[in-house]
Amino acid sequence: MCGIVGYVGTQSAQNVVVDGLRRLEYRGYDSAGVALVAQGQVASAKKEGKLANLEAELAAHPLPESGTGIGHTRWATHGAPNDVNAHPHVSRSGRVALVHNGIIENFAALRTELEAEGITALSETDTEVAAQLLGREVDNGADIAEAMRTVCRRLEGAFTLVAVDAQAPGRVVAARRNSPLVVGVGEGENFLGSDVAAFIEHTREAVELGQDQMVEITADSWTVTDFDGNPADATPYHVDWDLSAAQKDGFDWFMRKEIHEQPRALADTLLGRHAEDGSLTLDEIRMPVSELRSIQRIVIIGCGTAHYAGMVAKYAIEHWTRIPCEVELASEFRYRDPIVGPQTLVVAISQSGETADTLMAIRYAQEQGSKVLAICNTNGSTIPRESDAVIYTHAGPEIGVASTKGFLTQVLACYLLGLYLAQIKNTKFGDEIAAVVAELETMPAKVQEVLDAQQRVLDLAAAFADNPSVLFLGRHAGYPVALEGALKLKELAYIHAEGFAAGELKHGPIAVIDKDLPVFVVVPPRGRDMLHDKTVSNIQEIRARGAQTIVLAEADDDTVAPYADVLIGLPKVSTLLQPLVATVPLQLFACELATVKGHDVDQPRNLAKSVTVE
Ligand code: AGP
Repeated sequence: MCGIVGYVGTQSAQNVVVDGLRRLEYRGYDSAGVALVAQGQVASAKKEGKLANLEAELAAHPLPESGTGIGHTRWATHGAPNDVNAHPHVSRSGRVALVHNGIIENFAALRTELEAEGITALSETDTEVAAQLLGREVDNGADIAEAMRTVCRRLEGAFTLVAVDAQAPGRVVAARRNSPLVVGVGEGENFLGSDVAAFIEHTREAVELGQDQMVEITADSWTVTDFDGNPADATPYHVDWDLSAAQKDGFDWFMRKEIHEQPRALADTLLGRHAEDGSLTLDEIRMPVSELRSIQRIVIIGCGTAHYAGMVAKYAIEHWTRIPCEVELASEFRYRDPIVGPQTLVVAISQSGETADTLMAIRYAQEQGSKVLAICNTNGSTIPRESDAVIYTHAGPEIGVASTKGFLTQVLACYLLGLYLAQIKNTKFGDEIAAVVAELETMPAKVQEVLDAQQRVLDLAAAFADNPSVLFLGRHAGYPVALEGALKLKELAYIHAEGFAAGELKHGPIAVIDKDLPVFVVVPPRGRDMLHDKTVSNIQEIRARGAQTIVLAEADDDTVAPYADVLIGLPKVSTLLQPLVATVPLQLFACELATVKGHDVDQPRNLAKSVTVE
């Protein structure tokens, strides 16, 4: 998720673009850049780090005045955050500059095609491939708008592209597929943005672009076509939000917005990581297959929510790979004198990539000779930088302190790792792996189904606002979901909440069950195993002792209805993948209960987004 701005008008394009990028920094902030069209040239500047670095660069080396410009603030997916990988990317001839938000799935093949013509990339990014393709079209005589359409027809994946041509002053062209882009319509000036925060200081008249649409803006016009050049309809609307609401896309909290971004985050994390036949292609792992094949043991480490993602992963990885897989709290791992070595793969899960406990743990593991693979959402952060391999989640910046899309994409990335290991160790047939990948492809839509049915969960929050304690039960892969649901409630509502393995009830916890005590129970899908029926028995046991049972189960699971005070229906998914849908109602519940209680949901008391001290 990156921030994009485009402008054509009579103001200083540099000022309008940089101001717009500042309002979009929540979308990405590991590098930034601008490109302007002036005196028949493209003038550009880009810098790693915060926007302030770019502003210092522009102050030291001013660009020429211009009324036509584009800009970008990056959240890196392909290629580390540095000056070279920062956007804009300029074509070989220097005539075209382009910025991009999204993931171009077929960039490797396109890069090979360009290299065969002697057009070599300077950066590691997928974006530069689009810039060079666009430059090639324009250098061969195509108009920039037609060139953009030609290039878009060749790209696969998710992209918002915005570009300028040195020989087309007063024009900015842009296109979108599976990634946001809006037009801001001014008086004698027009704007483009990843969202309306880019330009609502200038105009509240916006136009939402549809899938596979291209737009050209000048100071006095905006023209929308499809990728074949046919005129296309786009929807004008008036923006009522203030800047803060615009940055939250109209949601009250970044956390709530990020809960609703989960379908996109899952889709982006899947993108480009499997072939048509369902085989996995995790090129970024960068560990020799022979080394991965020699792994005898996996130790997953993490803190908090990341630790729970690892607990979910254990069930899947062991089932698919038959490699013993342990899950440890990073803060405990280093101090218990663990037995790890060259045959152990340590998997470090961290959204921020800066958690001190996890960082210290991987350093210890490496001292013992283990290879470390990071699963991280922040490209270029310390933990992936110090690891031997990485799988990046593509959730985009997670602003809310309570992790939501970070968790779901960590779980997904662990599934991909498990399937990849099963593939290279041949512990699963190709068709079995393809079947799981095919189901993972349906998960964004299934999470959206849960979000679409959220009202039932939100109504619960008001009902339980005054409860001093809430319990969460789950079995198998649902057990870490129970733990995560309890953590969300603790973090946000500041009330006692505890997750248990449902099978543990009779070993003590059932003693705390009291009349009207709310207990969430995550019920596994029905299947040939006993997991489901034993969990239903647990619900009967706690209901018999007066608990209020809030049951999360497959929507058509009529066996649980008689014992559920509240039944939250889940889409039908496989047992191992159920955490991706079962967690979402618990996130929504915690967010809503904290809101009802008047808490700061995005910045809960006593907590930091990244715990960089042990
Ligand atoms: C999750 O909601 C919490 N904010 C916290 O438990 C977090 O998951 C933990 O601190 C680990 O952070 P990391 O993923 O950035 O390493």
